[in-house]
Amino acid sequence: MSWSLEEAIAYYKTLGTDQNTIMNLLKEVQQESGGSIPLFAIPRVAVNFGVKESFLLALIRRIPSLRLGDTHVLQICSGPNCSKHRAIGEAAQKLESQKISVSYVPCMRMCGKGPNIKFDGKLYHQASPQLLKKLLEDSSN
Ligand code: FES
Repeated sequence: MSWSLEEAIAYYKTLGTDQNTIMNLLKEVQQESGGSIPLFAIPRVAVNFGVKESFLLALIRRIPSLRLGDTHVLQICSGPNCSKHRAIGEAAQKLESQKISVSYVPCMRMCGKGPNIKFDGKLYHQASPQLLKKLLEDSSN
């Protein structure tokens, strides 16, 4: 079974909402994310543990072993339906020079709503190059 941020958050919430628990969750997120905490994890952890994002960022800065990543994660469905829409992949190629990591994943099993993408772990249907541009603009504000 693959690791997911949502499941990790749900698990750690059962252990409490104190700073130590949050720190252990962040360590796991970092370990499972290839060595740094992805930006998109911050608001999700903050909401689930009832703390401000600024608190989490301060916590990460204070703990030398924790590192905040600066790359957004874009996953593009490469299933038979979604891959017909080449504009997404072409737009993604241009975006790779920015702080974005692009990967192609197997069918997301929502073929009727495609093309489907996940941006920083959040699913979007009927994705377009315009949507990608907007997501990047919104995330940099
Ligand atoms: S082809 Fe994309 S969800 Fe199935």
